[in-house]
Amino acid sequence: MLDRFGREITYLRMSVTEQCNLRCRYCMPVNADRTKGSVGCTSADCDGELCGGDGAGTGMLTPDEMITAVRAAASLGIKKVRITGGEPLIRHDIVSICERTAAVLGIDEVCITTNGLLLKKYAKELAAACVRHVNISLDTLDAEKYEYITGQCDCPYASKSSRGGAEVGAEVTGTGNRIGCPAAAAGPERVLAGLEAALAAGYEKIKINTVLIGGFNDDEAEALAGLTLRYPIDVRFIELMPMMGGVFGPEAYISADEVLKRLKGLEKAPDDGVARMYRLPGAKGGIGLISPVSAHFCAECSRLRLTADGRLKPCLHSREEYSIRGLDETGMRARMEEVILAKPEMHPRLSYDSLSEAGRSMNRIGG
Ligand code: 5AD
Ligand code: SF4
Repeated sequence: MLDRFGREITYLRMSVTEQCNLRCRYCMPVNADRTKGSVGCTSADCDGELCGGDGAGTGMLTPDEMITAVRAAASLGIKKVRITGGEPLIRHDIVSICERTAAVLGIDEVCITTNGLLLKKYAKELAAACVRHVNISLDTLDAEKYEYITGQCDCPYASKSSRGGAEVGAEVTGTGNRIGCPAAAAGPERVLAGLEAALAAGYEKIKINTVLIGGFNDDEAEALAGLTLRYPIDVRFIELMPMMGGVFGPEAYISADEVLKRLKGLEKAPDDGVARMYRLPGAKGGIGLISPVSAHFCAECSRLRLTADGRLKPCLHSREEYSIRGLDETGMRARMEEVILAKPEMHPRLSYDSLSEAGRSMNRIGG
């Protein structure tokens, strides 16, 4: 369906959980709602590892409601669905959600964004469930920096682990409650193991998303770009957006142009969606620059967003939300039409004195 500005809306970003097994400092408030973020799993076959259950009791959409929403969206011309979160892979029913999404008539592309911690476990099954593309978030290759940027962990594993750990939901102090948490130990290694499992599972496209933060990981741009020499993947650098819940100030912002200047020897490659693409000579994959702050891509926007708690957002940076709770497929379709027609021509310029107007932190929107 076309919006008021002639843009064809073909892409739904659907968040399946607000929960996350990490607390990235630019994404989630440090004191994020821990009751919603710590619902344990009662499934008999659950191995307990970083599992967020099936969302029951969290007040989020059920899988049936999500699939009804995908059907309604497909009937309006949505062809691509990206599954986001929070961290989608902490749901033990994630494979079924992806499989059911891919089976909806009219949907010809299902992709997922993950922090990669559980990717080794799920890579094969998700590929079999017709997920075609995987985006993996990784901001640093250094284990200590990874611990810092991914914040204070209160994953269910910590409390379930026989190795101990604080009670889920307990006040977090330092790294005290991280005992037994796999995220704390060797995070980047674990993410790279997930990446290798994804490569073995044969996805069409695998991308790493890195948010570059001045004074934190800008010195790693070359090393991260170097991953494209080792693996057939794209590495994309994303400008840090001033979102609610984030802790970084203007000094942490680095423009995509600055990153481009720092990466030596890049060759231009064909652009890919919102990413300006380059390539290192001899590399197996590309380097992308995504500039939501210095140059917004509103003119080409084809997106609709659905939050895990059942709100449609016409624009990432708009406070406006439209609920689909309690509606049947016809009702959801009508609500989606309304939202598409309410898409703004563009969002206000983002800056560090005027934060995004999204009204939610990224984990509650869908990264
Ligand atoms: N700025 C830029 N990207 C962000 N993400 C989350 N918060 C921000 C932010 N403030 C993106 C990251 C991450 C994905 C899940 O969401 O790219 O990889
Ligand atoms: Fe579209 Fe809003 Fe994203 Fe701009 S910010 S590209 S209008 S969804």
